[in-house]
Amino acid sequence: MPKYLIYFAQAYPNFRQAELESLADLHGVSIDLSHHDESNPFVIVDLENDEDAKKIMARSILGRGIYELWGHGTTLEELHESVKATSSDKFPLYENNSFKFDFIGYKGTRSVKERLAIIESFSFVAFKGPIRMKNPDQVFTVLEEYNVLGREKATSPLNMWFGREIQLSARTENILDKYDLRRRKYIGTTSFDAELSLVSCNIGQVGPGKITYDPFTGTGSFLVAAANFGGLPIGSDIDPRILRGKGQNTIPANFKQYKTSSQFLDIMTMDFTNNAFRSDFTIDTIVCDPPYGVREGLKVCGAKDPEKAAGRENVVIDGEKAHLRKDFIQPKKPYELSNLLHDLLSFAAFRLPVGGRLAFWMPTANDDFEVNLLPQHERLELIYNLEQEFNKWSRRLLVYVKRDETYKGQTLNGLKVNNIKNFRERYFKGFSEKSK
Ligand SMILES: C[S@@+](CC[C@H](N)C(=O)[O-])C[C@H]1O[C@@H](n2cnc3c(N)ncnc32)[C@H](O)[C@@H]1O
Repeated sequence: MPKYLIYFAQAYPNFRQAELESLADLHGVSIDLSHHDESNPFVIVDLENDEDAKKIMARSILGRGIYELWGHGTTLEELHESVKATSSDKFPLYENNSFKFDFIGYKGTRSVKERLAIIESFSFVAFKGPIRMKNPDQVFTVLEEYNVLGREKATSPLNMWFGREIQLSARTENILDKYDLRRRKYIGTTSFDAELSLVSCNIGQVGPGKITYDPFTGTGSFLVAAANFGGLPIGSDIDPRILRGKGQNTIPANFKQYKTSSQFLDIMTMDFTNNAFRSDFTIDTIVCDPPYGVREGLKVCGAKDPEKAAGRENVVIDGEKAHLRKDFIQPKKPYELSNLLHDLLSFAAFRLPVGGRLAFWMPTANDDFEVNLLPQHERLELIYNLEQEFNKWSRRLLVYVKRDETYKGQTLNGLKVNNIKNFRERYFKGFSEKSK
């Protein structure tokens, strides 16, 4: 099988494999990334053909580009020998194409003079086509990895690769600028980081025409990210004010800004624990950031004191029972986060199609985290537990796949539930005391 070189961005290295594997799986491409070393942004993979390479890289956020590998060396001479030995058969294929050369240096760069000398040194490929800096048929790339020791600038590379550019990623094509929260019309204190929203949608396998649900929509960060990948987003939140936005700054205005309004299904005020979706309403993917009580409250519909509330059922306004009027505001009561996560997993297990994914973020304290504290459901397989670490706590992207009825996975036990419950308390105490 042909070999391809992937060049990753230096961002969230522990999410890279999950993102590319998910994109590969979404497109039916087989890829083995198990040998990827997260400390290095280069990895060589075997792929069937260029089409497969394009499919896995085009919408990647953590990859930068993928190249058909023509050779590798630790010096320029070694690189030439390798290209001649392994790729001479490819030279005639591109003989008459327009082309240009590009340079990528990781932890090091070349001067213009050095670059020109390297380009000259590849004259043995004998391309006859015109050099074109804008939209050439082919871009041949020299990728270099330098080893920086202390503050010294590395003078020669550790590794050099020569490749034909197959696909640059969405990141390289500036998607992060486009979705930058600083330029988004409507944001709030709960808006989720644009880069990780897009990564979550990739790992959650949002795809063209797939209905993507965010049950805790807030300002709609996951909804706009889902629409970017062709998904059909629908969202709900218990708080009508956050869904409504402020003046012109609204969730629909964000879709307009990104020119994805035609995909936006709707948003509605709804308590997730009293979900009103028809049971046959298809949901392909769920991507969300549930309320943890840190920036926002976790409330559900219901009265704290049911006896007192029952007394109010007879209140009449303008001849109409108050609780049946359109302007009635439901009382809310606190709810345990562990119960909400249990509800979320049960909902996903019931509503997703087999193979559908649930991807959500969950915070954990670093000093008392154990893998077996993660929520589980017997019909959902936890396939990724990806950690974004802060000082004393982390948030984790948990990704589950709905399996068929022959699958019998783990279920949650009571002890684990307590630990989830304690996160908020510990967060506000600076994680100074361990949970009991
Ligand atoms: C962490 S925020 C999500 C933020 C969102 N990702 C964004 O982009 O702004 C959690 C949201 O859950 C909502 N929420 C709290 N309890 C809820 C419930 N019972 N049902 C639905 N939404 C709820 C809150 O109003 C809040 O907007």
